[in-house]
Amino acid sequence: MKILFFGDIVGKPGQAAVKEAMSVWKDQYQPDFVIANAENANPGDIVTPKILDELISTGIEAFTYGDHFFDGDFSKVAEYPIVRPHNFSGDHPGTGYKVFETALHRQVAVINLMGQAFVKPRVENYFNVIDELLKKIDPSDAIFVDFHAETTSETEAIGWHLDGRVSAVIGTHTHVPTADTRLLPKGTAFQADVGMSGAVNAIIGMDIERANAWIRRQLGEDVPKSPPKDPRTPYAVDAVLIETDGPTKSKSIKRLTTRPAA
Ligand SMILES: [Fe+2]
Ligand SMILES: [Fe+2]
Repeated sequence: MKILFFGDIVGKPGQAAVKEAMSVWKDQYQPDFVIANAENANPGDIVTPKILDELISTGIEAFTYGDHFFDGDFSKVAEYPIVRPHNFSGDHPGTGYKVFETALHRQVAVINLMGQAFVKPRVENYFNVIDELLKKIDPSDAIFVDFHAETTSETEAIGWHLDGRVSAVIGTHTHVPTADTRLLPKGTAFQADVGMSGAVNAIIGMDIERANAWIRRQLGEDVPKSPPKDPRTPYAVDAVLIETDGPTKSKSIKRLTTRPAA
């Protein structure tokens, strides 16, 4: 089956860009199932039901999340087809995996895990967590893992750990796509980071001035906060198209992007 996966959708620009891409790619690539990372769709807060409904109306069928789970009350959207990192330490609303049935009655498990390096949330050991989870689930057609992490080394580590055991391991969180799209030796489709949908004349999709102010505050400088502002065009859309070959491997993976060169 063909799975189309969009990286982190950043704010209104990201939503607009994905909507436009879906209007073309749905017919062009005819995916059986479409997934997107929604952690930044509503920057500074949890994604809203309204935004999810709009994204679902474009053809997106499932959502993954990440560290921005802690920006608000996730229970407001927990009933949506959405998963948040399965390995957060402690009890939290929502679930870290769901098994979906596609329009053509195929079963696909969508799993979200989170790395530990340079991120705030405390997480459980993702190697052990995924080993336990894979004993519990048995979807007939595909297992898709969104590994949400700041460092490519952690994503490569989990990719090798899961090679030949899941259909795909795709990284999210950095908002910058990596050029390492490949099938691992035992067939698992891999890319260390898929990238984002959002503005490119920006800092990982965010307004440059506001992002700089945030960084300066982290460096100890007294810079006031300013109201949120959406960056202007041009926008990028980064995604991958995976043709799976059952729940433990894939036939192909292709990087899709509308990222402008300049
Ligand atoms: Fe993130
Ligand atoms: Fe993100």
